[in-house]
Amino acid sequence: MSTVRFAPARRLKGTATPPTDKSISHRAAILGAMAVDPVRVRGYLEAEDTLSTLGAVGRLGALVQHGPDELVIRGAGLRNTVELDEPIDVGNAGTLMRLLPGWLAGQDGRSYTLDGDASIRRRPVDRIAEPLRRMGAEIEATDGRLPPFTVHGARLRSIAYELPVASAQVKSCVLLAGLLADGATTVVEPVPSRDHTERMLAAAGVPVHRNGRHVTVSNVDELVLEDLVVPGDPSSAAFLVAAAVLVPGSRITVAGSGTNWTRTGFLRILERMGGVVVGDLEDPLGDDVPPYEPIGDLEVAHGPLVGTVVEHDEVPLAIDELPLVALLGCFAEGETIVRGAQELRLKESDRIATVVDGLRGLGGELEATEDGFVVQGTGGLRGGTIHSHGDHRLAMLGAIAGLASREGVAVEGMEAADVSYPGFTDDLRALLPGG
Ligand code: S3P
Repeated sequence: MSTVRFAPARRLKGTATPPTDKSISHRAAILGAMAVDPVRVRGYLEAEDTLSTLGAVGRLGALVQHGPDELVIRGAGLRNTVELDEPIDVGNAGTLMRLLPGWLAGQDGRSYTLDGDASIRRRPVDRIAEPLRRMGAEIEATDGRLPPFTVHGARLRSIAYELPVASAQVKSCVLLAGLLADGATTVVEPVPSRDHTERMLAAAGVPVHRNGRHVTVSNVDELVLEDLVVPGDPSSAAFLVAAAVLVPGSRITVAGSGTNWTRTGFLRILERMGGVVVGDLEDPLGDDVPPYEPIGDLEVAHGPLVGTVVEHDEVPLAIDELPLVALLGCFAEGETIVRGAQELRLKESDRIATVVDGLRGLGGELEATEDGFVVQGTGGLRGGTIHSHGDHRLAMLGAIAGLASREGVAVEGMEAADVSYPGFTDDLRALLPGG
């Protein structure tokens, strides 16, 4: 385990390019493996989580060729996965664990077991098991709801499924299974969540329609995908944005970030708090599903912040950035409240507990609630030591807290950042004076 110290920074200047999008890369690997013709992917994220996905689709029969700037995935088609005797290892990747079973559920007569690391083994899969069973697959999970779990593929029935929680992972799982079902499959979302699966399916020639909260896909014989371009990850960009907002005198450009409206909830929350971010962000969409992902640069400057309230309908649009909202709240004037975010308890760590305990250890004044947290802004943070608990976003949170703190922060378990952002520490250092 590595401990890295982040000293208080004077100011951040320059341009940083965040790594490419983790969510979109997972989907590119899975849809690429489902296609028959080769799929070229420019900007595939080569981080631990998304390498797990390449490993998984490789075992299922896809050939993955790594070029200098692109990957080529040669899939075996929708219904031809290879039989396996050993479990598929998803590592730390919750998205892989929840999306892949949608495809596997339609492999009639074949069974697959999925397992992963200690953190994955506490993350529930009953949320995908329930709709997949309704479609005709059989799922056996440990204690009824946890990995390791086995998916017994079947001929699938199409369903209309109302999601009990807003989850892009569960929505995506059902939509992928819908490709192999016997008719049109509809998912009803309580509130909008990230729509990368819908967009990539549209790019692959699948009839996919949105009608308010309803998303419908038709079954298909094949996916036809040629080139995919993966934009920068807005969730990784958010750490750079927060650093520039919090460290006095900063002014940076974050280049090539995805600007899909379903991923920029954090920037809208930040704007409400008084943060200065300028960029060409996507507007909310109507019922059309565009077959592409928008991309743009963000200009960010330091500035004072005020507290805000984040309600449940904003949560899925900023889910992975809510730890940063807690950090910003510590520096803001007044109170910052996040509600309706009980899903945070089921992430790579229990992010309500680890964020609240971690920031308290650095001098923050905040309380955990059942479904979020309440932060009393004190204008700053003292600093100290924080443990990542093996959670990449907590490691990066500690680093940003250190740059903005009075005394600096030592992050224990900093290597966790490699799950989504290899090179994170170097990118931050390059923005520092003399970096
Ligand atoms: C993801 C969806 C979110 C998010 C996760 C990635 C995805 O999870 O937290 O990091 O790629 O679909 P839920 O949809 O389960 O909230």
